[in-house]
Amino acid sequence: MISAIKGAKDILPAESGKWRRLEAAVRERFRRANYGEIRTPVFEETALFKRGVGESADIVRKEMYAFEDMSGTSIALKPEMTAPVVRAYVEHKLGKSQPLVKAYYLAPMFRQERPQAGRQRQFHQFGSEALGSDAAALDVETIQLAYDLLRDLGLTKLDVKINSLGKPADRAKFVGELRAYLRDREDALSEDSRRRLDVNALRVLDSKDERDQQALDGAPKLADFLDEESRDRFAEVCETLDAVGVPYLVEERLVRGLDYYTETTFEIQSPSVGSQSALCGGGRYDNLVELLGGDPTPGVGFAAGIERILLALENENVAEEKTDKIDAYIVSLEKNPRVAYPVAVELRRAGFVAEFDYLGRSVKAQMREANRLEAERVIFLGGEEAERGEVSVKNMSGGEQTTLPRESLVNHLRETRSA
Ligand code: HAM
Repeated sequence: MISAIKGAKDILPAESGKWRRLEAAVRERFRRANYGEIRTPVFEETALFKRGVGESADIVRKEMYAFEDMSGTSIALKPEMTAPVVRAYVEHKLGKSQPLVKAYYLAPMFRQERPQAGRQRQFHQFGSEALGSDAAALDVETIQLAYDLLRDLGLTKLDVKINSLGKPADRAKFVGELRAYLRDREDALSEDSRRRLDVNALRVLDSKDERDQQALDGAPKLADFLDEESRDRFAEVCETLDAVGVPYLVEERLVRGLDYYTETTFEIQSPSVGSQSALCGGGRYDNLVELLGGDPTPGVGFAAGIERILLALENENVAEEKTDKIDAYIVSLEKNPRVAYPVAVELRRAGFVAEFDYLGRSVKAQMREANRLEAERVIFLGGEEAERGEVSVKNMSGGEQTTLPRESLVNHLRETRSA
């Protein structure tokens, strides 16, 4: 037997309803804020992620599904969407016709991580990128859209954490001092962090290891290295978050794992999903468009992991609203599916969700099936009624039953259709 690739999951018919409902909510929220959908290819040149996300980021250095295609080009399955969206923005000169481009996406991503609850190798993100304005209100719009969506889906335990990484030059100064400080305490650090000192010292800050966190007490603080402009900007982000009622915590050790960030960064975490607690993350990347060959253009965005959100909803026992209803189940006294099939077709052509028995089961078994499917109505075919050219319709919630001429069935269903 051949199984699915480790860390890649099937979404089966019984589960796909909750995916579609989540996706519909995502699309609706983005539409209200005037974001247009962008779809980019599943694969890109590997160089895009190396340059865009950065060679020191784990998702590029260790986790990328990269391979050579038959022409010898190095190709990578996309581990994230920001670099592809910016590539498309530059390639199609989207900024020329519109000073501000706001785009959202829903797509599978690929990272060769060690699979565990809330961590897969193929997973799904939705997110947004807004290119062309450095207004603090746009940082806040990004955070607020993500927060409101998670709230509207029914999650109540959410921690919004924000920080400012300032400008690259200021950050570089800080990283230099941080590295020197940590070098003096190298023996106290976890192995992971010791390795990170050279490649990406900043990541030591958000290490979950107790030893690292202890070693960091007394370390230089990033906030002290920001210039006045960055500090004012961050204050404006905080005030605007207050104005729209998004609660947050300033977390000075929140640095995120990707190299493109500048100024505001954020994460929304859920205490109900265990160790993989980040439901979404994002921030500003004011140098990325230029880095990928475009004119200097500021940008800000976020991405959320759908599997993690579904896990959080389950763990918070958020009740699922069922919308995949069956309007009518046709029960036939004849055990031949040929009898019920044309009625089902007529109802389906008229816009109803209709089902019947293909397996030659007894009337009792057909009724059980109608109950299992939570059909709204059952239509009985056969017997004396059929001889008189009639059918019976039973309303499964109220219990009342009506007999009517076969040819007025569709009209009757239309008239009695529940909202
Ligand atoms: P990220 O933090 O790497 O950011 O990923 C965003 C979200 O994707 C995470 O918070 C998590 O929910 C989900 N996620 C990441 N890896 C996995 C995995 N292996 N399995 C399941 N879920 C996962 C980005 O991707 C940036 N592009 C976000 C961004 C957009 N920044 C600016 N614009």
